[in-house]
Amino acid sequence: MKRPAAALVLAAFAVCLASAAWIPQAPPARPRPTPTPDGRPTRLERASESSCNECHAEIVTEWASTLHAMAWEDELYQADLVGRKKAESCHGCHAPLPLHASGFEGKPQARPDARHFGVSCESCHLAPDGALLGPTGVATDKHATRRAESLTGTGSNALCSACHRTTVGPVIGIAKDFEQSELPAQGKSCVECHMSVVRTVERVGVKRDVRSHELQTPRDPAFLASAFSWKLLEADGRTKAVLTNLAGHRVPGLIGREIEFRARALDASGKEIAKATLVLDTSSYLPLGESLEMELGARCAKVEIAGWVRDPRVEDARRFVELTLTP
Ligand code: HEC
Ligand code: HEC
Ligand code: HEC
Ligand code: HEC
Ligand code: HEC
Repeated sequence: MKRPAAALVLAAFAVCLASAAWIPQAPPARPRPTPTPDGRPTRLERASESSCNECHAEIVTEWASTLHAMAWEDELYQADLVGRKKAESCHGCHAPLPLHASGFEGKPQARPDARHFGVSCESCHLAPDGALLGPTGVATDKHATRRAESLTGTGSNALCSACHRTTVGPVIGIAKDFEQSELPAQGKSCVECHMSVVRTVERVGVKRDVRSHELQTPRDPAFLASAFSWKLLEADGRTKAVLTNLAGHRVPGLIGREIEFRARALDASGKEIAKATLVLDTSSYLPLGESLEMELGARCAKVEIAGWVRDPRVEDARRFVELTLTP
C-alpha cells in the first residue's frame, strides 16, 4: 500500500511543478476578428437552436457569424442552386454529414436534415460512435469525448482541406496551394491564421489556449491587410513598390473578389510625381509566397498606397488598408 501513496505524492508534486512552470502567454498573434459592420454576412438567426448551445453558448455565438454557420442559408449559395440539375451534389460541403464518419479523402456527403445549420458543430466534431472529438478530449459526464489529431494544431489541416481542397462551382480549392507549399512542413496550420487564440481555460490544473470559432475572414480589414507585405526598392534612380503574399494560399481565394492597390509617389514637397494601380482577381491572382512589382518611375520621397476590395455581397468597394512607404 505504500507504493501507490508515494506515487500519488510524486504525481501531485509533478502537477505543482507543471503549474508553477506555466508562463503567461504572449498576447495572441492575431486579435479577435473585427469585420466591418456593412461587410455582410451577419449571423445565422437560428444558431441558438443548436443542441450544443445549452453548454457551449460562447462557441455557438462565435460560429454563428461565419459562413460555416450560414453555408446553407447563404443567399449566394441558394441563388446558385436555382435551375441546377444536380444541386444535390453541391450540398456535401454546405450541409455535410459528420466528416469523421465519411473520412476526409472522398467528397463530403450531404445531410438529409437540419440543413439550415450549414457546416454544423457535428460536421467537424461528431465521431461515428457518438463521442465528441476535440483537441484535449477532457472527460465530462455530459457526453463522451475523445482527443483527436484532426482537431489539434496541424492535424486539423486535413479537416479543413476536406472541403477547401476542391475546385467546384465558384470555389477555388485553395487548400491545395497550402498543401503543395512548404507551410505544412514548417508546422503551419489553417487554424493558426483563421481561428485566433481568444481565451485560456484551466482544465484539471492545466491551462491552455482556446481558439475562437469566429473565423478570420477578408471582411476584417486588418486581417485582409495581413495577407500582404510591402517594400520599396530603388535601382538606377527608379522606384518600385514590391507586394508579397503572406497568406497561406493564393489571394484572392474566391471567384468574384477583386483587390486593387493604388499607389502615388510623392517628391519631398509632397507633389505627385507618379502613380500606378495593381489589380488582383481570379485570373490575375497573387500565388502563395510570390511577389508583384509596381513601377513608380523616378526616385521619390515617399509612396502612399491604398488597398480596396470588392466582393459580390457588398455594392461598393471598401478601402481596407492605407500605408506610407519611405525609401
Ligand atoms: C468540396 C466541397 C464543396 C462542394 C461540393 C461545393 N462547395 Fe460551394 N463552397 C465550398 C467552400 C469551401 C466555399 C467557400 C470558399 C471560400 O470562401 O474560399 C464555398 C462557397 C460557395 C459559394 C459562395 C461563393 C461566394 O462568392 O461567396 C457559392 C455560391 C457556392 N459555394 C456554390 C456551390 C455550388 C453551386 C455547388 C455545386 C455545384 C457547390 N458550391 C459545391 C465548398 C464546396
Ligand atoms: C469547421 C470545423 C469546425 C466546426 C464547424 C466547429 N468546430 Fe469546434 N473546433 C474545431 C477545431 C479545429 C478546434 C480546435 C482548435 C484548436 O486548435 O485549438 C475546435 C475546438 C472546439 C472545442 C474545444 C475548445 C477548447 O479548445 O477547449 C469545442 C468545445 C468545440 N470546438 C465545440 C464546437 C461547437 C459547439 C461548434 C458549433 C457551434 C463547433 N465546435 C463547430 C473545428 C470546428
Ligand atoms: C449538457 C451540456 C453539454 C452539451 C449539450 C454539449 N456539451 Fe460538449 N462539453 C460539455 C462539457 C461540460 C465539456 C467539458 C469541457 C468544457 O467544460 O468545455 C464538453 C466538452 C466538449 C468537447 C471536448 C473539448 C476537448 O477537451 O477536446 C467537445 C469537442 C464538445 N464538448 C463538443 C460539443 C458539441 C459539438 C456539442 C453539440 C453536439 C456539445 N458538446 C454538447 C458539455 C456539453
Ligand atoms: C464541411 C466542409 C468544410 C470544412 C470541414 C471546413 N470548411 Fe470552411 N467553409 C466551407 C464552406 C461551404 C464555406 C463557405 C460557405 C458559403 O460561402 O456559402 C466555408 C468558408 C470558410 C471561410 C470563410 C468564412 C467567412 O465567414 O467568410 C473560412 C476562413 C474557412 N471556411 C476556413 C476553414 C477552416 C480554417 C477549416 C478547418 C478548421 C474549415 N474551413 C473547414 C466548408 C468547410
Ligand atoms: C499564413 C496565414 C494563413 C494560412 C496558413 C491560411 N490562410 Fe486562409 N487566409 C489568410 C488571409 C490573410 C486571408 C485573406 C486574404 C484573402 O481573402 O485571400 C485568407 C483568406 C481565406 C479564405 C477566404 C477567401 C475569401 O475570399 O472569402 C478562406 C476560405 C481561407 N483563407 C481558408 C484557408 C484554409 C482552408 C487554410 C488551410 C488549408 C488557410 N486558409 C490557410 C491567411 C491564411
